[in-house]
Amino acid sequence: MKLLLLGSGGREHALAWKIAQSQKIEKLFIAPGNAGTATVGENVPLKADDFEGIRTFVLANAIDMVVVGPEDPLVKGIYDYFRQDSALAAIPVIGPSKAGAVLEGSKDFAKGFMQRHGIPTAAYRSFNGTNIEEGLRFLETLQPPYVLKADGLCAGKGVLIVPTLDEAKREFRGMLDGMFGQASATVVVEEFLSGIECSVFVLTDGEHYKILPEAKDYKRIGEGDTGLNTGGMGSVSPVPFADAAWMQKVEERIVRPTIAGLKAEGITYKGFIFLGLIKVDRDYAYAKSGDPVVIEYNVRMGDPETESVMLRIQSDLVDLLEGVAQGNLHERTLVADPRNVVCVMMVSGGYPEKYDKGYEITGIDTVNNGQTADGQPLPPGCSRDESVVFHAGTAMNDGKVVTAGGRVIAVSSYGDSKDAALAKSFTEAAKIQFEKKYFRRDIGADL
Ligand code: AMP
Ligand code: GLY
Repeated sequence: MKLLLLGSGGREHALAWKIAQSQKIEKLFIAPGNAGTATVGENVPLKADDFEGIRTFVLANAIDMVVVGPEDPLVKGIYDYFRQDSALAAIPVIGPSKAGAVLEGSKDFAKGFMQRHGIPTAAYRSFNGTNIEEGLRFLETLQPPYVLKADGLCAGKGVLIVPTLDEAKREFRGMLDGMFGQASATVVVEEFLSGIECSVFVLTDGEHYKILPEAKDYKRIGEGDTGLNTGGMGSVSPVPFADAAWMQKVEERIVRPTIAGLKAEGITYKGFIFLGLIKVDRDYAYAKSGDPVVIEYNVRMGDPETESVMLRIQSDLVDLLEGVAQGNLHERTLVADPRNVVCVMMVSGGYPEKYDKGYEITGIDTVNNGQTADGQPLPPGCSRDESVVFHAGTAMNDGKVVTAGGRVIAVSSYGDSKDAALAKSFTEAAKIQFEKKYFRRDIGADL
């Protein structure tokens, strides 16, 4: 089969790495891809939301399946674009319809959906320019800290967690005044949930589903979860607290009612669902201490969770994606690798604020050479071939791989324990060099 994957980050390199291993793949294209995806497939210079360009490419190259990495093309309706075009209608797109993508595209819709289907989520109300006073009074009924969310997509920046009531009222007005443009014309105000987060990924054909290996991501720039939020500094899978009993609650209380709810509302959904969950550490009206509660839905895989999760899928991912397209996902097998995986993301100095691009990256070819950066034996528990390098923000310049983003390159490693996986990733990360490189050394250490 000829497959086109849309996107250009670490998530897409990890998906491309896994897809390229399938016996079913004759040719893999990535649009636009990065210097890493070019090592497992062929990059195509098209933006992931250039629907007309994608249409022309798909028809000219007899593409059999399109897999969508980021949310943007989904929220803009790429699924429906294919279905409504007679030349494209038979080509499966892995991702929800535009109506399904609203689960990520509108927090107000997602909250309403969860309420309609009895899915545990923080108590909330939504406000816009017509009921500002009510919103201020609602804030007074909540306990600090206060959680304010722009309804629409804001590239991960639309959530404010504010310590005092005065500040919350000010930020609430600011959001409705256009702090995030049209995205915050509606603001969701919700109860703060205390606990520890976990990302659970579901693949569905709209009827059946498979729960992929779960992961935890690390969003803050600094060690010990301090400093500014980033696009993600690393991830681990499995997550020790997501044991069988907890995952059963996730399946019964969240996954099944989500799939059933989509069906009941007539929403076509054939793709990945990312459940941003929290294991709460106290009782709420809708969950007891220790239970899973939904913080958000995303309609794609997570980044950098995918860079761990793909290593933990032993089965052929393309076979699973075919099951999604054909509506027989229940007839396909998903086998998880029992080993631990830790992903460490190397970023440009200064990120997530101002940083420079264009520095040469060296040492990628020394990964898995069986020694440390200074020629010593690998740490105990680490073996040679256990790491995979995923490019996030890289480009080719004059035949050299150079930095081209804040998050630059990730190393994901297997280990028989989390600590061994961590040690292997740090050992390899130390061997990859570029000017002002930074990475966190405590990924997974809190678990
Ligand atoms: P979201 O964009 O909805 O994922 O929110 C970004 C981050 O804000 C989440 O990953 C959580 O860390 C945090 N967050 C969102 N909602 C809540 C909440 N109700 N209680 C506590 N933390 C939250
Ligand atoms: N890692 C969180 C996200 O992909 O949104």
